[in-house]
Amino acid sequence: MKILSIETSCDETALAILEANGGLAKPNFKILGTALYSQIKVHEQYGGVFPSLAKREHAKNLMPLLMQLIEDYKKNSTETHDGQFIELSSEQKEKLTTVFEREPELLEQFIENISKIQKPDFDLIAVTSGPGLEPALWVGLNFARALSLIWDIPVLPVNHMEGHLASVLKDSTNEINFPMIALLISGGHTELVLIKDWGQYEVIGKTLDDAVGEAFDKVARLLDLPYPGGPEISKLTKIARDENLESEYDLPRPMLNSGNYDFSFSGIKTAVLYLVKKIKEANPQENAGLTDVQKKMVALEFENAVTEVLVKKTKNAVDEYSARKLIVGGGVISNPHIRKTLTENFGDILSLPDFEMATDNAVMIAIAGYLKSFREDGKVFPEIRASGNLQF
Ligand code: KG4
Ligand code: ZN
Repeated sequence: MKILSIETSCDETALAILEANGGLAKPNFKILGTALYSQIKVHEQYGGVFPSLAKREHAKNLMPLLMQLIEDYKKNSTETHDGQFIELSSEQKEKLTTVFEREPELLEQFIENISKIQKPDFDLIAVTSGPGLEPALWVGLNFARALSLIWDIPVLPVNHMEGHLASVLKDSTNEINFPMIALLISGGHTELVLIKDWGQYEVIGKTLDDAVGEAFDKVARLLDLPYPGGPEISKLTKIARDENLESEYDLPRPMLNSGNYDFSFSGIKTAVLYLVKKIKEANPQENAGLTDVQKKMVALEFENAVTEVLVKKTKNAVDEYSARKLIVGGGVISNPHIRKTLTENFGDILSLPDFEMATDNAVMIAIAGYLKSFREDGKVFPEIRASGNLQF
C-alpha cells in the first residue's frame, strides 16, 4: 500500500510518502519521500504558536512541498511513473472552490499547479484531523480532500496522538510486545497511554493543566531565554551538568505521590516565578537579572523535578500493567537528561524515537493511517472534520 500523508496540526507543515507492507502482524515501512517546513522562526517573535499565522503558513507551503515531494519520490523510486497529467474540468474547479472556501490563496496555487503533476499511484491519503489547532488542521484536511477529488484516492482521517504512538514502527527492528505503555510529552500533551493492541488505546493519566513542553517554554521565558524554551533549558543544564554544578534551590515535584497517573506542571512554573523573584530581590544590585550561574541552577532543579515526576509515574504504570514495551513520543523527548534517565530506568523495554520522529512529522501519520486502514476497511469518510480536542 502506498500512502501519502499530511500533517498540519501545529507549526510543522509535513508531507510524506510511505510504502507499507506486512499487515498488523508485521508492519513494515519504506519511506519514499518526505517534505517538511517548520514555522518556528515565524512564531518565535510571538513567543508561541499563533493559530491564524500557522494556518496562513500551511496554506502557503503545502503546494510547493507537495511538488518537491513528488519530484523526490520519482527520483527515489525504481518504478516508472506514467500517470496521466490531469486537466481540470470546470466542474472540478467549482468543487475545488467549495473545498478551499476559506483558503483562497491555496485554491489559486492548487489550480495553477496540480496539472503539472502526473497522477500518482497512491492507495490512500492519511491526514491529521486532530487534536491540534483547528484553523491549522482544516488547511491540511482541505488539501487532502482536494487531492482526493482530483486523483480519486480515498482519504483517511488520523489522530495525531496515534501517530506519535505508531512512530515506534518506523524502525522495523523494534520488537512490538503488548501491553505497551506510551509516554507522550510535547508542547500540547502530557499523557500516559495503555496500548493493549493497535487501535486499543486508553489514556490512564494526563496533565490537569500545562503540558510538560509548555512548562519548559514558560520557565525558559522566566529565565529570559528565547522560544521554544525547551532546547534552551537543556543547553543550559548540559553545561551545568558538565560542570557538576549542584542547584541550591528546591522546587516541588507536583503529584509525585498522587496515587494516579495524572500530572500537573502549572504549580512548578509558578514556583519558578516566585523563586526567580526571590533571587532578584536578594540581589544587592537593583534591577539586575539572574546571573548565569543562578539561571543554570534554576534550570537544573526544574529539569530534575520534571524528570523525576515523569519517570516515577511511568514506572508505576509499567509495573501496574506489566508493560512489555515502553514507547515515548513528543518533542520533549529530545531532552538529553530525560532520555538518559528513561534509558537508565527502562533500558530493555524502552524504544526512544530519534529527533525527527519525536517531533511532529508526516511519517508517523502515514504509519498510523496504515494501522487504521485495517480497522476502517473500505469505510468512506465523506465528511471529515477537524477536531481540535480529538481524543483517543
Ligand atoms: O512535539 P512537539 O515538536 O510539538 C508539539 O507540541 O506538538 O513538541 C514541542 C515541545 C516544545 O514545548 C519544546 O520546548 C519541547 O517540545 N522541547 C524540549 C526540548 N526540545 C523540544 N523540551 C525540553 N528539552 C528539550 N531539549
Ligand atoms: Zn505532536
